[in-house]
Amino acid sequence: MRSFTPVIAVLLLICACNPTQKNTGSASAVNPYQYNLNKKIVADNGAVVSAHPLASKVGVEIMKQGGNAVDAAIATQLALAVVYPNAGNLGGGGFLVGRFSSGELISVDFREKAPGAAHRDMYIEADGTPRTDKSQDGHLSSGVPGTVAGIFAYLKYGKLPFEKLIQPAIDLAQKGFTISEREARSLNGLQIELKKLNTVMPVFVKDKWVRGDTLFQIDLANTLTRIRDKGTAGFYEGETARLIVEEMKRGGGIITYDDLKNYQAKVRTPHSFTYKGYKVIGMPMPSSGGLLLNQMMKMVENRNIASMGFHSLQSVQLMTEVERRAFADRAEYMGDADFYNVPVSMLSNDNYLQERMKDYDPARATPSSVIKPGIAVRPESKETTHLSVIDKEGNAISITTTLNNSYGSRTVVGGAGFFLNDEMDDFSIKPGVPNMYGAVGGEANAIQPGKRMLSSMTPTIVLKDDKPFIVVGTPGGTTIPTQIFQTLINIIDFNMSTEDAVYKPKFHHQWLPDEILIEKGFPAAVKDALTKMGYKFAREREGIGRTEIIKVLPNGKFEAVADNRGDDAAEGW
Ligand code: DON
Repeated sequence: MRSFTPVIAVLLLICACNPTQKNTGSASAVNPYQYNLNKKIVADNGAVVSAHPLASKVGVEIMKQGGNAVDAAIATQLALAVVYPNAGNLGGGGFLVGRFSSGELISVDFREKAPGAAHRDMYIEADGTPRTDKSQDGHLSSGVPGTVAGIFAYLKYGKLPFEKLIQPAIDLAQKGFTISEREARSLNGLQIELKKLNTVMPVFVKDKWVRGDTLFQIDLANTLTRIRDKGTAGFYEGETARLIVEEMKRGGGIITYDDLKNYQAKVRTPHSFTYKGYKVIGMPMPSSGGLLLNQMMKMVENRNIASMGFHSLQSVQLMTEVERRAFADRAEYMGDADFYNVPVSMLSNDNYLQERMKDYDPARATPSSVIKPGIAVRPESKETTHLSVIDKEGNAISITTTLNNSYGSRTVVGGAGFFLNDEMDDFSIKPGVPNMYGAVGGEANAIQPGKRMLSSMTPTIVLKDDKPFIVVGTPGGTTIPTQIFQTLINIIDFNMSTEDAVYKPKFHHQWLPDEILIEKGFPAAVKDALTKMGYKFAREREGIGRTEIIKVLPNGKFEAVADNRGDDAAEGW
């Protein structure tokens, strides 16, 4: 075993709120009332980076107890369901991309499914009016949750007993944890919707949350305990299923016992491709993430983007144009491949992608109307979360999970303590009607019972010489694939440090609306020059995404960097 490497950390004390309370739970070294936030660490044995310092710490503790990256990822994911209710979840879904020490590559699809009673026009009024309120808020917006089935689908790749992995989450829910300034603000902003969209007032309802308050989630602790004791049946059957179905009945939702009992996560072959000698492993359908990343990277591969330079007019314009073209394909061709024949090999074929760039003009914008017709809305920022984990055995795990909107449907299952997703909005509820991220679609992503809605989540692993090099992912709705694209180009082509690759301002084009979304700090001179070339810009955004990345350094150490756009934190040992 290699020696412990001191942590190189930017330490920011965010909570030291209740020193009299002691943590006695199995999260042992993790004190939920006092914790630090490390933005960067370098470690010898393993690393975890996630949206919450407590969740990252839980993961590293599990590795110290003999767990591998899978064990750590499961423990971190379950802890996030408690300490990061915006997006960590039991009532949502997500994707895992993994590379094991044996060399095996897998992806696990635990995306939500449309309930059996769902139908194509369920969000369209008789007069044709689309009801995005119903696809985005409350009971009817929820797909059948996949998270618990997902965890049990990859549990077999871990080493420790499940009870050990879930106990820290149970303790955090039962004994509580102190919330940060950002969490207090986020919960305060949620109060009106919580009161409107819940049939039983959840613990999150309070006159005013302040930094340092302790959040106790007893109902959630009980649900987690049922999962600990009964496995998937602790969620999809029995008491938890009863609570979900009763909640549906009280609130006009349609998820049934059968929907829950029949839910199955799927182990799929990852979507892989090569880029300049690296092997990039991504998520296949029903996420568009892997294929979009493939298309965008291949469209720039032979254009010597390195010589153009980071944030140069040339590189930003080129990347914008490839983003536009990939997203036009997303709207037309991509959806759940179990239901719709997605032409993946055609869309990732080299000749096709070179052909796609035939009308690219480095001197001016290609209007989206030339590539395809459509309508425009502005994308909004919502919530999803990513965790990256690596261990010294050579296992690498990249998981992105989501409830879709921040806190999903904003409906908590009465008596069970967890938020349900509002993932149904990721379907194309009507051809041409944009979802909450402004994405449009048609037949490929139309609602059908049991179908999974198209996603943009892009959990990714990059191999160099067949060994893990980068483990990365981010939230951000449709901006997810473009952010991962830019982060990878920043590292591989622009030779940037890992922090710069993540922290420097990002930009985004998704074909429709035909405008570039930029993040605060994007160079004004480049924006002006692009405007002269015919580009339009959306209102500048404060932050795009929250990327969690681990890079393996040439000396074999793990450099983990947490995004500085949130309370995200890296831990290692
Ligand atoms: O699956 C998707 O693409 C979306 N439901 C992800 C939502 C998301 O990333 C929100 N985060 N900011």
